[in-house]
Amino acid sequence: MTTLTTAPLALLLDRLFKEAENATPATSPIVNSVPAEERARLMRSKTGYLDLYGHLKDLPLPISRETGTLLYMLARSGRARTIVEYGTSFGISTLHLAAALRDNGGGRLIGTEFEPSKVARARANLTAGGLIDLVEIRVGDALETLSVDLPDSIDLLLLDGHKALYPEILALVEKSLRPGAFIVADNADYSPEYLARVRSPANGYLSTPFGGDVEVSMRLG
Ligand SMILES: C[S@@+](CC[C@H](N)C(=O)[O-])C[C@H]1O[C@@H](n2cnc3c(N)ncnc32)[C@H](O)[C@@H]1O
Repeated sequence: MTTLTTAPLALLLDRLFKEAENATPATSPIVNSVPAEERARLMRSKTGYLDLYGHLKDLPLPISRETGTLLYMLARSGRARTIVEYGTSFGISTLHLAAALRDNGGGRLIGTEFEPSKVARARANLTAGGLIDLVEIRVGDALETLSVDLPDSIDLLLLDGHKALYPEILALVEKSLRPGAFIVADNADYSPEYLARVRSPANGYLSTPFGGDVEVSMRLG
């Protein structure tokens, strides 16, 4: 039995994923009021992302169910105790990772989110899932909140905030990644710069695309 697949978390995740299916960017009038080319430009831009995510602030934008299960398994198999998450939103990925921490015997997850209303929803979901005691959500731009007070050793990093900033966020966390740490980056195709970095063993990573929408990398010793 696992925390992920039993009450209360299993039912909570079912509900949150179903709600997310009915609230996608494709069906949002606010998102659709921004021309598609402008949205594509903003996704790749290192500035102007606050506007982009302002439009998306009522949408959960979660990882897929498959990526959630993958995160849980990687955190369990790596016996993770310390996890950093860039981009928390409503906390769906956070719930998977915190469940793994619980089943590993405890630990600490640092989440990051700049939309205060999303932080409130994530905290409520983590409370409902019985996992809030394992999670600290840093409110603000992760470029700032992850630039201070990181644990000495990090076992797993999830990258799921603004994609164009993946290289900058990795650079902030890199010195704390323990050898063997996993980095899971959702929709990393939006950041060719990030992919070039982790796909070069000379930079200290082994990396592979996985499942069509994530890049799974491992920090080398
Ligand atoms: C794709 S969603 C994250 C979904 C979440 N990981 C999940 O699976 O439930 C991206 C989130 O990152 C937040 N975000 C984007 N760039 C950020 C930044 N630089 N600092 C903090 N939060 C950021 C957005 O507000 C948005 O809620």
